[in-house]
Amino acid sequence: MSLSAKPYLQRISMRDDAVIDFDSYPYHIPAVRELDALEFHADVTFFVGENGAGKSTVLEAIAMALGYGQEGGTKNVAHRTTESVSSLHQNLRLSKSFKKPRDGYFLRAESFFNIATYMDEVGYAGGYGGSLHARSHGESFMALLLNKLEGNGLYLMDEPEAALSPNRQLAALSAIHQLVQDGSQFIIATHSPILLSYPHAKIYQFDGSGITETSYEDTEHFAVTRDFLNNYPKRLEQLLADEE
Ligand SMILES: Nc1ncnc2c1ncn2[C@@H]1O[C@H](COP(=O)(O)OP(=O)(O)OP(=O)(O)O)[C@@H](O)[C@H]1O
Ligand SMILES: [Mg+2]
Repeated sequence: MSLSAKPYLQRISMRDDAVIDFDSYPYHIPAVRELDALEFHADVTFFVGENGAGKSTVLEAIAMALGYGQEGGTKNVAHRTTESVSSLHQNLRLSKSFKKPRDGYFLRAESFFNIATYMDEVGYAGGYGGSLHARSHGESFMALLLNKLEGNGLYLMDEPEAALSPNRQLAALSAIHQLVQDGSQFIIATHSPILLSYPHAKIYQFDGSGITETSYEDTEHFAVTRDFLNNYPKRLEQLLADEE
């Protein structure tokens, strides 16, 4: 039996000595309150769930525990913000592979623009194939995926689909697969029924009862999207009906 380098991040769990106030953020969120331990897939782990279910909170805590700034970027980026950040990262125990990833990135759709500005300011833009500001949001993201990420990496992404057309989401799926084959691991919070279809993956559903593993076709994202596209005239009639 040979030891495998992936997953670089194998598992997170709550520290036994964690100091927790269940009445306030982030521990009042069911997914965080019930967070005991999570095992990650060697290739891709998805976080799905309703808005506000706690996906970004958990992803951000993992990123901070790994040494990223809360705005994201590479580990060299310690971009300051005024945003408050939860203490969850201090209460997490991370189980890692014997082998460290050679590359890494924490992508937050909300602050990608700030990171692009920072990269321009410090003259790092070369690694992205030119200034990200001279491109559209989606073009910037594809430039990051295709030019900046080198493989053998651990990549955290929060709603990477935010900028992408359906066609570009398909291209992103293929780029992610290429990086996976080049020794990379991803943890991705997403609402995209396209990205979620990636087969070499584990899907964690965040909801009122905590975090549970699910399968692609059992996600609401798959079911609701398929139902709507197959029946949209009828669904629209129901949704837009005047209340009598
Ligand atoms: N800094 C903060 N202080 C207090 N509450 C917060 C903070 N950040 C987020 N919350 C709350 O915590 C809950 C979980 O937020 P989070 O951003 O993790 O959700 P999410 O699952 O990523 O949702 P979405 O799909 O909309 O991105 C929400 O109710 C949110 O209002
Ligand atoms: Mg979020």
